[in-house]
Amino acid sequence: MSAASTSDPRLLFFAGSARLNSFNKRLAKLGAVIADVNSIPSTFVDLADYPMPIYHGDLEEEEGPPDNARKLKNLMRAHTGIFIVSPEYNASFSPLLKNTIDWISHTRDDGEAPLEVFRTRVFALASASGGGLGGLRGLMQLRAVLELGTGALVLPEQFALPRMRDAFDDNGHLKNKDQTEQLKAVIQKLARAARVLHG
Ligand SMILES: Cc1cc2nc3c(=O)[nH]c(=O)nc-3n(C[C@H](O)[C@H](O)[C@H](O)COP(=O)(O)O)c2cc1C
Repeated sequence: MSAASTSDPRLLFFAGSARLNSFNKRLAKLGAVIADVNSIPSTFVDLADYPMPIYHGDLEEEEGPPDNARKLKNLMRAHTGIFIVSPEYNASFSPLLKNTIDWISHTRDDGEAPLEVFRTRVFALASASGGGLGGLRGLMQLRAVLELGTGALVLPEQFALPRMRDAFDDNGHLKNKDQTEQLKAVIQKLARAARVLHG
């Protein structure tokens, strides 16, 4: 995580895939690189490093939320904008991401309002898929969960990367310059929105 004054936007990037060679992870990592190059302090985290059981009410009652949900929530709190990249599974977003959101939404520290970390951050969404729509359909559902379910502010701008298998060069950059500019524009908008919200 880069150093930042309290008024600087700080962006957290993660992907809804834990797969080692995940394209969505690649896109999230690239987003963090683009942010840093544009003087926006950023952090990439890999959900593979934050494993959690599938949400189960009995488990929650017996043990409370998993430590990794609290760790991720604290990471979100340490940033002012959250950039989520999700694969599309059967026209929705990934179960890993839903489970992560569900656990974090039920993780509350003393004095913390319900869903506080969602309601006080700005979100931006992206996706990568092998098809021509770039995972766009999954993002519509992810947007609904964040906005309606958690009360998050989600930017209308988003980025969907079609035909992901041919999209990256060997250095993890997008071959297509227009796509790179579109991704950069969403990241810059997220940083601006986070600055407005957090002063
Ligand atoms: C259960 C399942 C459903 C999928 N459904 C879709 C889909 O609706 N649209 C799509 O573009 N790709 C779909 N895919 C393909 C994923 O986009 C692909 O597995 C992708 O590589 C996953 O993202 P990742 O590379 O970041 O792990 C599906 C994959 C799985 C396993």
